[in-house]
Amino acid sequence: MAAFRPAWVFAVALTAVLAGSALAVLEPAARERPAGGSATDPLPAEAVAALAVITPVPGSLGAEPARAALGRTLFSDTRLSRGGDRACITCHDIRINGASAVARDLTTDGRPLARNTPSVFNAALSFRLGWAGEIPTLQDQAEADLTRPDFLGGSWPAILSVIRGDPALAGRFRSAFGREADREAVIDAIVSFERSLLTPGSRFDGWMGGDAGAVTEAERAGYALFRGIGCAACHQGVNVGANLFEKVGIFVTIPNKAAEVLRVPSLRNVAVTAPYFDDGSVATLPEAVRLMARVQLGRELTAAQADAIVAFLGTLTGSYEGRPLTAPRAPGSGPQPQPQPRG
Ligand code: HEC
Ligand code: HEC
Repeated sequence: MAAFRPAWVFAVALTAVLAGSALAVLEPAARERPAGGSATDPLPAEAVAALAVITPVPGSLGAEPARAALGRTLFSDTRLSRGGDRACITCHDIRINGASAVARDLTTDGRPLARNTPSVFNAALSFRLGWAGEIPTLQDQAEADLTRPDFLGGSWPAILSVIRGDPALAGRFRSAFGREADREAVIDAIVSFERSLLTPGSRFDGWMGGDAGAVTEAERAGYALFRGIGCAACHQGVNVGANLFEKVGIFVTIPNKAAEVLRVPSLRNVAVTAPYFDDGSVATLPEAVRLMARVQLGRELTAAQADAIVAFLGTLTGSYEGRPLTAPRAPGSGPQPQPQPRG
């Protein structure tokens, strides 16, 4: 896995951490004014400074609508899985937060997966995929998720025969792709849908866009602390993470966990995606924030400081199709929504 980590990335980010600065390692893609404010009022200096660290989630990546709609159907079609009993939405519940409530979902063989399920929302904005960042593209991820026994365990002959044998679905493929459903078209449909799984409209993005009232004084103070103590050296860019590889456990290691190099995760929607860390071992956000400060920055936060950062992180929750993402109900508190057999 270390093979994927360019040494300079680690060195540059660590320098930023040690300097306590919020150096943006990668240049933000868009410096133009985000939607929200009016083009005539100048942005406050604080919002301009924030835009050098975090950029707003775009409303669209221009996914082709007919293909994305097909991908949406496939995303919850359990017939593509080996046992006919699960779909992408089983683990990535897009009706809530794009993930699931449990620390680790189960493989098709009923064993817990090696890692916690990350949210699919905004994954299209990340530079690489998976906790270790070993998956280069959404296409590779879709292929792995469809066929690996860890996820759906499907096989291409079976997947294509289900789709071609369903007249409505087969017809939609013909009209969206101009040919019979094949492996490439199936993957393209899923990827097109994933490119539409964006959560714009967070309060923080609104504030950066010039809406001064979008965040409270306490939340702004939390952001200043997040930036000031060096969290933003690793968690930055459009996804507030997911653009660097970093060692976990720079100053001390996380208890019961070997130090390893992972892709810095996105903190978009993090307030509604508990439990935390690649193994899902941390249940609450204040606990995750204090642990991060200790292991990555060598700092002990007071409860008030951790609360301030948690308040800031709460402003990063965006909306999908106009509805703010929500946390799943706690496991055991009643039936979770079940996947639809057909989209
Ligand atoms: C059994 C649960 C499960 C199912 C079913 C599943 N996934 Fe995943 N998915 C995961 C886990 C766990 C990871 C992280 C794997 C890792 O990093 O080792 C992941 C990672 C991803 C990622 C990368 C997210 C990121 O931020 O890096 C995407 C995108 C994704 N899955 C899409 C899909 C699609 C599309 C399907 C259906 C074809 C699907 N998943 C089915 C559990 C699941
Ligand atoms: C040196 C880089 C680095 C710094 C600095 C850093 N983080 Fe992280 N952060 C990571 C990595 C890597 C992970 C993944 C850890 C894991 O899963 O084991 C992570 C995980 C997290 C998570 C869990 C996300 C999830 O979805 O599970 C939160 C929350 C978080 N960091 C917040 C912070 C805060 C707040 C600070 C500042 C106090 C901070 N981080 C500083 C690299 C960093």
